Amino acid sequence: MKNYLVLLSFLSLTLAGMSCGENKDDLTPTPSPNLYERLGGINAITAVVDQFLANVVADNAINGRFAATVADPFRTQLLRNNLIDQICAGSGGPCQYKGKTMLEAHQGMQITEAEFNALVGDLIAALDQFNVPTQEKNDLLAILGPMKTDIVDQ
Ligand code: HEM
Repeated sequence: MKNYLVLLSFLSLTLAGMSCGENKDDLTPTPSPNLYERLGGINAITAVVDQFLANVVADNAINGRFAATVADPFRTQLLRNNLIDQICAGSGGPCQYKGKTMLEAHQGMQITEAEFNALVGDLIAALDQFNVPTQEKNDLLAILGPMKTDIVDQ
């Protein structure tokens, strides 16, 4: 009798397991892709960041802020990698942002709201240059927008 009960509970556990995971006809919704995947993964994010930096360097409203960075290939590469990691991690990708906090990075710079908007404009232009759809653009800007308070007037 005891063995019979053990067998019965084993069978019911096995069947319960099968009914949740292995039956593809069930009603379990397929998880929707996260923003990282919708943006096109690391290669697409890298391409957008490179275009974004090119736009910033060409933007007379703010490129003076980056003169020392651009003059130093190591600093430029570090900024590029930090931006890639930041967007990758923030959008749910498999990266880890290892840079400073936004407050630490921008403290003492006295960045104005106009400069912040100019930089966001350069990012939007880069996203448009790669035909990133409106939904993904807005989702990414929604991640970066809240950083404004740690960047402007610090
Ligand atoms: C959403 C807006 C912004 C984001 C996400 C952002 C992101 C970053 C990141 C990740 C770094 C590198 C931090 C590190 O070195 O550990 C950085 C540095 C810097 N940011 Fe920003 N930033 C933003 C806005 C701005 C604006 C508006 C300006 C000026 C117009 C600016 C100027 C700089 C400068 C000059 C550096 C130092 C670069 C260097 O290390 O040589 N940032 N920012």
